[in-house]
Amino acid sequence: MSNRVVAENNTSPARDTLPFFSTNSMELTHITRSASGVSPTLGQLLKRVGDVRKEQTGDETPVHQILDVSDTSSVETRSLPFVLSFNNLTYSVKARRKSITLPAVFRRQPHPLGAVTATDPVPGENLFSKTKTLLNDISGEARDGEIMAVLGASGSGKSTLIDALANRIAKESLKGTIKLNGEVLESRMLKVISAYVMQDDLLFPMLTVEETLMFAAEFRLPRTLSKSKKKIRVQALIDQLGLRNAAKTVIGDEGHRGVSGGERRRVSIGIDIIHDPILLFLDEPTSGLDSTSAYMVVKVLQRIAQSGSIVIMSIHQPSYRILGLLDRMIFLSRGQTVYSGSPMNLPHFFDEFGHPIPENENRTEFALDLIRELEGSPGGTKSLVEFNKTWQNMKQSRNTNAHSDSQGLSLKEAISASISRGKLVSGATNNDASSPTSMVPNFANPAWKEMVVLSQRSVTNSRRMPELFGIRAGAVIVTGFILATIFWQLDSSPKGVQERLGFFAFAMSTTFYTCADALPVFLQERYIFMRETAHNAYRRSSYVLSHTLTSLPALVFLSFAFSAITFWAVGLDGGFFFYFLMMFASFWAGNSFVTFLSGVVPHVMLGYTIVVAILAYFLLFSGFFITRDRIPPYWIWFHYLSLVKYPYEAVLQSEFGNPVKCFVRGVQIFDNTPLAAVPTAMKVRLLETLSRTLNMRITTSTCLTTGVDILDKEAVNQLSKWSCLWITVAWGFFFRFLFYFSLLLGSKNKRR
Ligand SMILES: Nc1ncnc2c1ncn2[C@@H]1O[C@H](COP(=O)(O)OP(=O)(O)OP(=O)(O)O)[C@@H](O)[C@H]1O
Ligand SMILES: [Mg+2]
Repeated sequence: MSNRVVAENNTSPARDTLPFFSTNSMELTHITRSASGVSPTLGQLLKRVGDVRKEQTGDETPVHQILDVSDTSSVETRSLPFVLSFNNLTYSVKARRKSITLPAVFRRQPHPLGAVTATDPVPGENLFSKTKTLLNDISGEARDGEIMAVLGASGSGKSTLIDALANRIAKESLKGTIKLNGEVLESRMLKVISAYVMQDDLLFPMLTVEETLMFAAEFRLPRTLSKSKKKIRVQALIDQLGLRNAAKTVIGDEGHRGVSGGERRRVSIGIDIIHDPILLFLDEPTSGLDSTSAYMVVKVLQRIAQSGSIVIMSIHQPSYRILGLLDRMIFLSRGQTVYSGSPMNLPHFFDEFGHPIPENENRTEFALDLIRELEGSPGGTKSLVEFNKTWQNMKQSRNTNAHSDSQGLSLKEAISASISRGKLVSGATNNDASSPTSMVPNFANPAWKEMVVLSQRSVTNSRRMPELFGIRAGAVIVTGFILATIFWQLDSSPKGVQERLGFFAFAMSTTFYTCADALPVFLQERYIFMRETAHNAYRRSSYVLSHTLTSLPALVFLSFAFSAITFWAVGLDGGFFFYFLMMFASFWAGNSFVTFLSGVVPHVMLGYTIVVAILAYFLLFSGFFITRDRIPPYWIWFHYLSLVKYPYEAVLQSEFGNPVKCFVRGVQIFDNTPLAAVPTAMKVRLLETLSRTLNMRITTSTCLTTGVDILDKEAVNQLSKWSCLWITVAWGFFFRFLFYFSLLLGSKNKRR
């Protein structure tokens, strides 16, 4: 097939089959028709696509000599693989009304023309809430091979329109239809074939440009593609985006100096186009860039478009050169379309509207200024909106008698064609699948592969920021040392028992408190996670699993350090291994608990407040301050919820579980009583009297309290130490599950 394409190309330039690049539309209609008949087959289409590709492999993209794409009949006859059409998009939000104004009650009938302008009352207004219409009846069409730009003043609704098209607004709130090749896109499909580049850059600051793109490639490109192929693709992208000089530089953030803002912008674009999506949405990709960088970015977008994608972006003030790269524009003013069509037609449009664009003036600037002026005038932009409507209708009526819509490809055919051209490199097959949905897999890689890549990334990240782990380890080690020194070599006297209890209660809650540093880790990553999962870079479950696995080594280290420092220094009794295991289990439970919280709280400060408060309650109800049998029955449930209870009881059992070990012997019985101050000889005599009265022999060496007695006194006798250990481990798993669910439910990433 490719041979044939080359051969044909030699004899007739591809331009002939591409009305798009031609100036003579009538002639082309003829050529295309005669070449393909009324409805071209998939094979014919692919061939034509191959031709286009051939032409575009050269770096110099052809100079556009487009007439208005939408007002020549020839365009319709070129069976475009992809047409995204959106009709009557309306989106409004409810804003609370502060004061009820009478006129609002009466002015409720809709505008006779069906459309409502900004100054008109909005249907749906009622006494208590006011609806603010952010998008008002917007229609249009975008095709592959073209860049569609959304323009308008700040606050005119550009981002909102892009969000609407990218399915980032909840279905219930958005009215109107969005169709790709005449079929309503289901959101699962859209996720797979589209990409959305947000207005702000969400990247890992400590990865280099190359690594960032490589990780994106690992996520988005299928496993069947070899590592070297992925590398080649990343390198090509780096060159394409003009990032060669910055390839080895870290992204950086407020703290670390990294790549420049413009370079970061281009990296953000790069990670979303790595798998060659069919639909690409960008929110102001050029803002904050100098004019050359901005031009380069749009040039890259044009190349993507010409490789068979639909590119839709919002842009603030395109320079003259950028204007030359745009194929369609939509001007918005307060959520309404004031112009839609090609940039070439702008002068004509404004001519007819009665405000000709002066020579030597930037067309878009003039248009935006005029719109702003009209917005400030009493009539608003109503006249322009109306004029645009009649202008569109006029064009449409010219078009309808020249074409019929039957020539477009169905979505399935188009996607299949696209995949065979090498688009959507996500393991897609163009085998005969019954529906477009089954053609493209949801995820490019199997779950284990995602976990490996995610783990690699988080290891790289933490290696680049050793200070984070250093601080955690430092906190644990310092606390261990302080505890070791003040509880140095505790004896087995009644006082020693008290001190041991205190040590355990404190040590166990320390492990939980030092886990609070897990809080900012996910909160920082959350938006990156949301961006990546919004377009199926990986499964949420893979993220949770790899997050869990990568946190374990650090927990092992911390628990070992803490138990090794304290165990012998304090002179603890139960086995070291169990003590270490229990420390590890409580670090694990604490870490999971905090991780879960980081999945639900929106801010770090709120997170810390909640962690500290809850842990304080856990400690209060752990059984140290008040034993289980003394807790009021209506609070006992909290005792069982307390995460500190289980590790605390486990180490107590391990410490005092030995039935022969004695803690109160002979005269020690008077310790902790008012009699503690009397001389020892007197105590011995008291003991003898006691023996006689009780009629049992108590000498200075008689054991009066064993470890088991202490456990009974502390009401620590319901669960064995191993049960406590397993329960603590289970809590950890439980919170990881909750974390997973919080991610499933909480990261919808949509406007309401
Ligand atoms: N939830 C909301 N409630 C009320 N008004 C809102 C809400 N969300 C957005 N808006 C308003 O909708 C309008 C359009 O917002 P949008 O973000 O689309 O503007 P924009 O054209 O992208 O502006 P910019 O160029 O500054 O990014 C703004 O006036 C904004 O204040
Ligand atoms: Mg915006």
